[in-house]
Amino acid sequence: MQIRGIDTPVLEWTGDALAIGLFEENTEITGELAQLDEKLAGTIQELIAETEFEGKAGSKAVTRVGSNSPIRKIILVGLGKAEDLKLDAVRTTGAAIARMANKEKVKTLGISLPIFNNDPAATAQAISEGIILALHQDNRFKSDPEDKGIKLETVDLLGCGGQDAAIIRAEQIGSGVILARELVAAPANSVTPITMAQTAEEIASECGLSLEILEKEDCEKLGMGSFLGVAMASDLPPKFIHLTYKPEGTPTRKLAIVGKSLTFDSGGLNIKGVGSGIETMKMDMGGGAATLGAAKAIGQLKPNAEIHFICAATENMISGHAMHPGDILTASNGKTIEVNNTDAEGRLTLADALVFTEKLGVDAIVDLATLTGACIIALGDDIAGLWSTDETLATGLKKASEKAGEKLWQMPMEEQYFDGLKSQIADMKNTGPRAGGSITAALFLKQFVKETPWAHLDIAGPVWADKENGYNNAGATGFGVRTLVNWVLSQS
Ligand code: BES
Ligand code: MN
Ligand code: ZN
Repeated sequence: MQIRGIDTPVLEWTGDALAIGLFEENTEITGELAQLDEKLAGTIQELIAETEFEGKAGSKAVTRVGSNSPIRKIILVGLGKAEDLKLDAVRTTGAAIARMANKEKVKTLGISLPIFNNDPAATAQAISEGIILALHQDNRFKSDPEDKGIKLETVDLLGCGGQDAAIIRAEQIGSGVILARELVAAPANSVTPITMAQTAEEIASECGLSLEILEKEDCEKLGMGSFLGVAMASDLPPKFIHLTYKPEGTPTRKLAIVGKSLTFDSGGLNIKGVGSGIETMKMDMGGGAATLGAAKAIGQLKPNAEIHFICAATENMISGHAMHPGDILTASNGKTIEVNNTDAEGRLTLADALVFTEKLGVDAIVDLATLTGACIIALGDDIAGLWSTDETLATGLKKASEKAGEKLWQMPMEEQYFDGLKSQIADMKNTGPRAGGSITAALFLKQFVKETPWAHLDIAGPVWADKENGYNNAGATGFGVRTLVNWVLSQS
């Protein structure tokens, strides 16, 4: 499928289907559209009247145009009130049009939407992202998929002539989001610490990043007892992945992205019980998937900042080698941790990942993790929690997420709650009381970052979608990639 920005007037465009966006309370067609309607023998007016189309956000209508017409079908999409239009609604509209066009077996599609905020580049990018993300189908694990794939061959964005760079950006970012989705969606017998390292290797060679893989012995030498404690029970070797993107010139900033990368979380000896969603725990590397997805996108976008991508990948399993509940682990910064719950493993892996990252001397660290069920209880399925020690960093991430349409909500770094992690015998426990569980998890991580501005995103909710919504399909969302990309671009 090819997306192109063109300046062909609506009246002259020909193809299988033309999609037109209309604002609420403004479905009276005028100007160019009125002329087009005339040319199509009143089809558009008729469609509006027959379907009582009011331009409400998310509404749509489609009809066939009489034969001999230069356009086979007309698709109308409602944009809601003009003053309420957000960039993410443009993205969602692109997705809705693409889904409809695919269902209608359209091969050549034209899209005529208003330019958002007088910004044709942002408009073209958002529509393209919506199309690419909505049409992504993951048939890797089906021997005979019902839906044989995309019929769309070309999509013309009318009024977006000269926006090729924006469309390419959408494709590059889209490839990162899709990588993240496919990593999360793949089961634990397919995506393992070994394959995650291989994926990093592919990104490195495709996009010219440098890659360092620390094997178990390397991690031992660095004293990563916390990460390795989690890795002990697995038959698979842990892989500590460190990808580095360096720009051509002098970088403006040095930044780091760290992702929780549990390719499976059984809970360990505190094994996850019935109803715990253990069968969904292949997605426990969603933070790492977003990290690798962002690396893939950033490797193509080539911003002027140096970016480090870190994934401490392992499984949380049970075996005779498993850490016992109550074991004391020593992290690479010397801090000791009483593991009062082996199911709070993500923070144990992140502890050593954060210590390693801070030693790189970066200006800011952002970690992403499917860290706590408590965060889902607090914010629901669609919103990630944000904790930060630095307001500038928090603000930058909130702006980036707003632009991406990925929802974040800042949560308190309530120092007093650290009391809940006090241990009789070690420097801290890895688990506190049930109440405020996502906050104590963030406070635990904070023990492993000394002074670098740091932010933590708990993405346990939005990493997965139960049903299709906007440009997200049911399943893995690739949450975080677009926020990370926007944040990095805002820093360079
Ligand atoms: N990976 C889970 C968190 C999770 C739960 C992600 C549900 C997505 C959906 C994490 O490792 C975990 O098990 N957390 C425990 C922490 C508890 C033992 C303090 C939890 O949230 O129950
Ligand atoms: Mn767990
Ligand atoms: Zn986990």
